[in-house]
This record gives sequence, structure tokens and C-alpha cells, in this order.
Amino acid sequence: MPSHSPETDEPKSYTFAWSATIVLILVYVLGLLIFPPLYDAPKGEASSLVLFIGRFHPIFLHLPVGILTVLCLFELICSTRRGEQKYGDASLLMLLLGSAGAVLAVFAGIMLSREGGYVGGNFSLHQTMGLLGTAGVLVGLVVRLIAMGRGSMELLNAYRALYFVSFGIMGLGAHFGGNMSHGNTFLTKYAPAAVKGPMVSMEKLFLSFVEKPKEEKAKPQAEEKTEPKPEEKAQPKPEMAEKPATPPTTPPPAPAGDEKLVFQHVILPVLTAKCNKCHCEEKSKGKLRMDTYEMAMNGGENGKNFVAGNLKESLSIERILLPDSDDDHMPPEGKDQLKPEEIELLKWWVEQGASGTQKVSDAKFPATLQATVDGILKG
Ligand code: HEC
Repeated sequence: MPSHSPETDEPKSYTFAWSATIVLILVYVLGLLIFPPLYDAPKGEASSLVLFIGRFHPIFLHLPVGILTVLCLFELICSTRRGEQKYGDASLLMLLLGSAGAVLAVFAGIMLSREGGYVGGNFSLHQTMGLLGTAGVLVGLVVRLIAMGRGSMELLNAYRALYFVSFGIMGLGAHFGGNMSHGNTFLTKYAPAAVKGPMVSMEKLFLSFVEKPKEEKAKPQAEEKTEPKPEEKAQPKPEMAEKPATPPTTPPPAPAGDEKLVFQHVILPVLTAKCNKCHCEEKSKGKLRMDTYEMAMNGGENGKNFVAGNLKESLSIERILLPDSDDDHMPPEGKDQLKPEEIELLKWWVEQGASGTQKVSDAKFPATLQATVDGILKG
């Protein structure tokens, strides 16, 4: 039996809703073909327009979050025939708007990921669940429209099941997105013990599906226990030398290198690239900024960020060397990680005094790091 509007008793056709739905699905499918979701670093630079739109992801995502949450409540009311008669149309409108918001957020998210550095477990889960949840809600929209056209309560119930599952997937995906910007412990940090355990293990379980088993990074930490002799320690382990950032043939030192400073021109670029998206003027996570020598040395909440000649006391080095899966590991999981050579370079710099004034021409970089240093100096 087709549903009837109370005033006219005419069957409703939902032409507008159908057209909007078809447009949305077309946009979703075509959009994914044009901007496919990536799980590896993007190749090549995205246009600045794409990157500009990408930055709206954190804004757009509030649309579906808000609308679809209210819709949950409405769908509960609509599960009775009377509720559906009264609020069915309102629910349909919300579903339509929420789906449109989700599609918008998905594409802004994909564009944001083109900035690079979005890899890892949290990111994979966030992207996959966002895509699946949105697809589920779009299919739900079609099912709801068919059900409303036919006035079928069974089909409406089927739709609602699909909707709640999709909403759940989306919500979980959103959580892993939150982890990416606030760190894995953000939500669980102050959780009561009874809740915290299950939450953390659920999270680990999900992450274990998408994360490749990592070789234990605990080794370098253990080595730190013995006070290192600078010359010896600066030699990177053979496995680290396997993947040089630049071809192993060392180019002649740049002639302009004479007046360049080790911190300013070799160390800072690494910090800028891998750390200072979160530790700079606009964002100083952990109250730590590293955009100048003084700030990098002074450290954040816990101070002692780089202690000359002492790797163990240097908080940044300590956190870099923690296993990737450790919540305190830097950069946080899912963010662009330091290359082994970059880690060696930072360690070398701290060990030989964490100087802010040493000139590149005076520095004795370990031979194995020369190629990396030259690469950084060349920009
Ligand atoms: C995606 C953002 C992000 C990036 C990139 C990042 N960090 Fe952090 N960092 C944080 C957040 C958030 C905190 C505060 C929470 C915590 O202590 O874990 C933090 C805290 C720290 C602290 C503790 C400061 C203190 O005094 O308590 C250190 C040290 C640190 N980061 C070093 C680094 C280094 C070194 C890099 C680059 C190799 C880096 N971070 C990259 C987000 C980031």
C-alpha cells in the first residue's frame, strides 16, 4: 500500500528525493574514480585547489556526524507505523542531507590525504570505514525510498538495520580519524579502568587487522643503556644503510655549504618535515615547539628535549626510538615517519653536542650519513 500524505490522500512520488539520491550516488561513484582512495604515499603533487578543499575535511565532517546522529533518534521513533507516518518524511530529508554531508566529507578527506604523510593503521581504518559507512548510508537511502514508495514496514526495518550498521561503521571510522589528530590515547586516557581495558583492546584488535607486523624497534633502545662512544655509535646498523635516501654515490659537497649551519640547514629541515606540523607556532602539541634552535632545546611540558651528548636524557630521541605501536612514539602512528637515516642523523647531532652554531663545513658527518646530509642540503 503506497503511503499517503495526510491532507490530500494522494500517494507520494518522492521524485525530488529520488533525483537527489541518484545524483549523490553518481557523484560518489564518479568521484571515487577520479580521486581514488590511496593507502600509500601519493605520487606527485596535488594541485593547490585540491589541497585547499582537503583542509575543509575537519569542517565538513560535522555535517554527517550531527545530522545522522539525530536521525538515529528519529529512526527509533519511525519504527512504529504511527511514527513513520508522522516523521518518515523528516527522516528521509535528514538521511538525504546526512548522506550528502558524508559524501562531501569523504572527498574532502581524500583530497586532504593528497598532502602526503597519511599512512598507517589509524589512517587505513579511518579511510576504509568512512568509505564503507558512506556507501552503506547511500544504499540505505535507496532502500528507504523504495520502502516509502511501497509503504512496506518490512523493507523499512531492513533499511533501519542497514542504517544503524553503517552509522556504527562510520562512527568507528571517525574514531580512528580522531586518533590520527589527537593520538591513540586521546579518548581512553581518562576512561575509568573498567571501560579503558576493553576500549584499548578493541582498538588494538582493529588496528591489528590493517597493520603489517613491524620488526621490533625496541633494539635501539636497549643499546642506549650503555653510554655510547660518539664515533662508534654514529655508525648506523647495516640494515639501516640498506635504503639510502639518495643514491649511494656521494655527490661532491655543495660549494655553498661553507656557511651553512648544521642545525639550521641539516637538522631543522628534518624536524620541519616530520615533526613541526604539530610542534610549531600554530600547533604546539605537548607544549613543544621545534621551529627554532632555542625552542627545540628548551622542550615542552617535560623539558629536556635535546640534551647535548646524552641520548638517554633527550626526550625527543627517546620518543622517536619507542616502537611504532607505543602510544608515545613520535611521530604518532599514521603520520609520516622518520627514515632510519634521519633517526641516525638526529642521534649523531645530539651525541656530538647538539650544537646550534656548528658549521656544516666543520662537521664530521659519519660517512654512512653523508648522502642523506647532502640530500637535505640540496633541499
Ligand atoms: C601529528 C602530530 C605530531 C607529529 C607529526 C609529531 N608529534 Fe610530537 N607530539 C604530538 C602530540 C599530540 C603530543 C602531546 C601528547 C603526547 O605527549 O604524546 C606530542 C608530544 C611530543 C613530545 C613530548 C613533549 C613534552 O615535553 O612532553 C615530544 C618530545 C615530541 N612530541 C617529539 C616529536 C618529534 C621529535 C617529532 C618528529 C620526529 C614529533 N614529535 C612529531 C603530536 C605530534
